[in-house]
Amino acid sequence: MLDADPFVPQIYRIGRMRRELADTVTLELIPQSGARPAFEPGQFNMLYAFGIGEAAISVSGARDNIAFVHTVRDVGAVSGAIAKLVPGAAVGLRGPFGTSWPVAAAEGCDVVFVAGGLGLAPLRPAIYEVLANRERYRRIVILFGCRDPNEMLYRHELEQWRQHLDIEVEVTVDQARADWHGNVGVVPALIARAGFEPHTTFAFVCGPEVMMRFTASALRAQGIPSERIYLSMERNMKCAIGLCGHCQFGSSFICKDGPVMQLDRIASILAVREV
Ligand SMILES: Cc1cc2nc3c(=O)[nH]c(=O)nc-3n(C[C@H](O)[C@H](O)[C@H](O)COP(=O)(O)OP(=O)(O)OC[C@H]3O[C@@H](n4cnc5c(N)ncnc54)[C@H](O)[C@@H]3O)c2cc1C
Ligand code: FES
Repeated sequence: MLDADPFVPQIYRIGRMRRELADTVTLELIPQSGARPAFEPGQFNMLYAFGIGEAAISVSGARDNIAFVHTVRDVGAVSGAIAKLVPGAAVGLRGPFGTSWPVAAAEGCDVVFVAGGLGLAPLRPAIYEVLANRERYRRIVILFGCRDPNEMLYRHELEQWRQHLDIEVEVTVDQARADWHGNVGVVPALIARAGFEPHTTFAFVCGPEVMMRFTASALRAQGIPSERIYLSMERNMKCAIGLCGHCQFGSSFICKDGPVMQLDRIASILAVREV
C-alpha cells in the first residue's frame, strides 16, 4: 500500500543495525508514526538521506517484521550517507514500489534462488516466505556466488539454511585462499551441477547484470521455460512511479514494470550489453 502522495517521504528512525561486510550494513527502519505499509518480497523503497538525495533500496527483511529491513552497500553519496547512520537517526522513505517475486505462483513447484553478491538482499524476503511455508514447495535450492569468502553476505543465515535437510545451499567464490574448501567459479556453473526438472521449476535470479545474463542462459539450457525465470533488474531511479523515464529499459520502466521481470519479457534486451 502506498502513502497518499508517493512523492512525499515519510520519516523513519534507524532501529537495530548490523554490519554485514566492510562496505555493507543491514538497517531496521521504524516508522516515526503509525505502522509501516505492507510490502511484497522483491519490492523496493526510495530511501532519502536528508540534504543528500534518494536511492532505490530493496526490502531485505521478512514480512512479519514491524520494521522495513534494508541492506545497503556504500557505493556513493546517498548509499554512503545511509550506511553511516546510527540508531535513532532519521531517514526519509517512499514506497514500497515495483513488482514482486511470484512466490504464490511457485507453490507446488521446485524453486531455485540464484544470487550474486548483494543480489541476495532482494531475494531474502522471498526465501523467508518459501521457508515459512516449506510444505507448499517441492525442492528448494539456493545458489549464491560472491567474489571471495569475505564477501559472503548473510553468512550465518546461509549456514543455517544449509543445516536444513530439505534445503540445498551451494556457495561459490570467484577466488579463494587455500583455507577455502568450497566451490570456486562463477555461480551459473552451479546450475548444471544442481540439475533441474524443467517442467516444475521456478527460478528467481538477482545479481549483477552480466551474472544474470549467463544465469538465464544456464537455466534455459536446463530446459526451464523463460516464463518461469524471473530476474530483478536495476536502473537509476528518480520518481519511482513511472513518470520521469529515468529507469527506462527497452519499452519498460524498471520502477513500475519491474524490478522483478519475467525473462520472456526482457530476453532480447538483456542479450544487449548496455540498454
Ligand atoms: C530496484 C533497485 C533495488 C536496489 N536495491 C539495492 C539494495 O538493496 N542495496 C543497495 O545497496 N543498493 C541497491 N540498489 C542500488 C542503489 O540504488 C544504487 O547503488 C544507488 O542509487 C547508489 O546511489 P549513490 O548516490 O549512493 O551512488 P552514486 O553516487 O549515484 O553512484 C556511485 C556508483 O554506483 C553506481 N551506481 C549508481 N546507481 C546504480 C545502480 N542502480 N546500479 C548499479 N550501479 C549504480 C554509479 O555508476 C557509481 O559508480 C538498488 C537499485 C535498484 C534500481
Ligand atoms: S524512475 Fe521515473 S519512470 Fe522509473
